[in-house]
This record gives sequence, structure tokens and C-alpha cells, in this order.
Amino acid sequence: MISCNVYSVNIVIIIFICYNIRQIRKEDIMKNWFKDYDNFDIRQGDSLDLIQTLPDKSIKLFYGSPPYPNAKRSYKTWKSEDYLNIFSEYITKIKPKMRDDGFIVINVKANRDKETTKINSQRSLIVEKLAIELNEKHQLYCVDIEIWVKTNPVPTGIRVAAQDAYEYILWFSISPKWTINLDEIRREYKSSTLSTYKNTTYKKRSENSPQYVSRDKIIKPNPKGALPVNVLIGASSTKSVNHPACQPGYVPVKYILATTSEGDIVFDPWNGSGTTGIEALTLGRKYIGFDLYPQYVDFTIETLKEIKK
Ligand SMILES: C[S@@+](CC[C@H](N)C(=O)[O-])C[C@H]1O[C@@H](n2cnc3c(N)ncnc32)[C@H](O)[C@@H]1O
Repeated sequence: MISCNVYSVNIVIIIFICYNIRQIRKEDIMKNWFKDYDNFDIRQGDSLDLIQTLPDKSIKLFYGSPPYPNAKRSYKTWKSEDYLNIFSEYITKIKPKMRDDGFIVINVKANRDKETTKINSQRSLIVEKLAIELNEKHQLYCVDIEIWVKTNPVPTGIRVAAQDAYEYILWFSISPKWTINLDEIRREYKSSTLSTYKNTTYKKRSENSPQYVSRDKIIKPNPKGALPVNVLIGASSTKSVNHPACQPGYVPVKYILATTSEGDIVFDPWNGSGTTGIEALTLGRKYIGFDLYPQYVDFTIETLKEIKK
């Protein structure tokens, strides 16, 4: 009896020691980060190089909006023909830095190829190819491809078909089994949905019935709200900042809430004006961001100081 008790006490002590060693190691691997600002680290340089300095298995969410294919911007142009190779390098380098329960979320827009006398300006399929490569070449698991519909699309001047009014959000998981904080991203039910639920008994599925329930039932609305949809609708940013492609905060916020908890690290390798970082910090997450240009790093630090006031 006594030896059994001694055995149990020993097991508890070993578990306690292992837990503490793990905690110390966790703090230790992050010791070169978040030194200048609490929970926020922004560095200037090429993110393809800087990614290598991140601790292994530290990032919960890689979220970013890279230069779009062929888009001529003051900050950088990634040509269509190089696009998949550049991305391949990013994904190969970031994968070891991601936690096993991590996610990669990329906001990107398809471009149109140049018109010539022989061929109209075709809509390029680079972004679709990228999504396929993320899955087939890099063994990432597609959670969804979501659509961000912009209510104030910028006129492109290209009169080929319709005006571009949406962008893609490629949402991938590192592991085949993932957990999403659905309750954090639920939306309000429409009043028409609530009254349909109230007044309808959904009938068991039959050949002639379009309703998809396996037995007759009344559906009760979830008190936390309706399931999220895979479409975001809203304006592109009208903030006047010193960056030409500043994102509206509601886009990163959805994915930060859906995939991370307080204290987790969100990483954006294309920091720009710092939207991802500021939203992550406001939600109690840690943030690491990189950008090629010192003026964007300085601007982000100014915004950070402003919100900390
Ligand atoms: C589309 S913008 C990101 C905008 C950002 N999401 C925001 O809300 O402001 C892309 C950013 O990537 C940066 N960038 C491009 N290539 C880079 C590289 N190799 N390393 C680091 N930053 C890079 C550009 O300087 C630019 O600020």
C-alpha cells in the first residue's frame, strides 16, 4: 500500500518537473522576441530571410496579403511567371515554424494577363494554381477558399467582362484534423430565418422533399448565433495611410478569432501598414511582422504607440 502511494507521488513529481521544463523551454525559445514592445515584434527586411530566424513550431496563424501577381505597386511587383516559385519558397520555409495546430491564410486577388492584338486580356489562373499547389505540393489541408466581396471595388479600366469586385482568402491547415473557434465568428440570424425556424417542422428527407434532415424536427436557433458563411462582404479600406494596399481590419479579425486564442502568435510576412498586427494585439494575441521597407515598419510602430496611449 505504502509503496503504491510512493509510486503515485513520484509520478506526480515527474509530471510536474516535465511540465515546468516545457514551460521554461517555451519561454526560452522566444527570448529574442517581443523585447521592444509587449507582445509585438516588427522587423525590417526580406521576410524570406527573416522567416528562418523564427523559432520552430511557434506560429499559430500565418496571415498575410502578399503582393498580388503582376500588380505594379511602389513596394514590389511579383511577376505571374515567378509567383508560384516565390510562394513555394515561403511555404517551404514557414512550415517548420508553424505549430502542428496552425493555419495559413492568404488574401490574394487574381490578375488579368496583358491584351495583345491576337488575344484579349485573360483572367489569370495563378491563384487557383497556387491553391492547388498548397495542397498537392506542400501537403497543406484546405479548410476553405473564401471570397471577400468588396462593396467599393476600384475601377480597373479594363473593359473585358465585369469589374473586379472580389478577392480570395485561401485558408489552409497544417494538420488534416483542425479546430476552429466557430462560436467566435458566428453571425446574427436574419429575422426571416428565425421566423422560419419558429414556424416550420422540417420533414424527413424523401425523394420529393428538398429538406435535408434525417427525421422530422424543429430547428432551434443557436443562442450564440448562426453559423458563419464563407463570404466576407464589406468595403476596402478607405483609411488614408501612407500605404497603397492597407487592408480593412475586419478581414484579418475573422481569421484571428477563428484560429487563435489569447497569447498565440500571429505572423504576417508582408506587414505593410500593420493592420494584421494591430488587430491581433487588440484581440490579446502576440504578433510578429516583417516588411521590406523601413517606412512601413516606422508607420506601424507609430500606430502601435498611438493605440497604447
Ligand atoms: C499587399 S501589401 C500588405 C498590406 C497589409 N496587409 C496592410 O493591411 O497594410 C504587401 C506588403 O508586402 C511587402 N513585401 C513585399 N515583398 C516583401 C518581402 N520579400 N519581404 C517583406 N515584405 C515584403 C511590401 O512592402 C508591402 O508592404
